[in-house]
Amino acid sequence: MSRIPLPYSQKVIDLFRNPKNQGRMEKPTVTAVAGNPACGDMITFYMKINDQEIIEKITFESYGCAANIATASIVTEMIKGLILKDTWKELTWKKVAEEVGGLPSVKFHCGILAVGAVKRAIRKYYQQKGLIPSWIPQKLTFEEKQALEEEELAEKLSKK
Ligand code: FES
Repeated sequence: MSRIPLPYSQKVIDLFRNPKNQGRMEKPTVTAVAGNPACGDMITFYMKINDQEIIEKITFESYGCAANIATASIVTEMIKGLILKDTWKELTWKKVAEEVGGLPSVKFHCGILAVGAVKRAIRKYYQQKGLIPSWIPQKLTFEEKQALEEEELAEKLSKK
């Protein structure tokens, strides 16, 4: 049985073939592993954050599909050099989907995973400092809820 190819944009295909900022980072300031319950795929972001709370360096490792690799790659380019507060406020999965030239609707969750993992990393950064700024809501955002931590994901999948 042959599979129907998904209508990926040329940009998704290019980034999937040649992702930017892919790989593990030595001594990151913060790292977040997150997985999507819709497919069970995982992603890890590594960030170096300076004293001015600017993302100096960001890399990722994806154990997901082409859409996830492409969206994670574009996310690293969109937020590198940004201050954490602006990243939090401006980064949405819809903007990410636009930046990669659109995503097939069955692949929206792959972009949501990339954004949710970044937001979990930012939240974790402040949790580690013991100082959560007022612009981070107490409740997890939609994207964070869709990007479960490793343990939560394992638990959810074990119940399927
Ligand atoms: S299908 Fe799992 S991240 Fe895309």
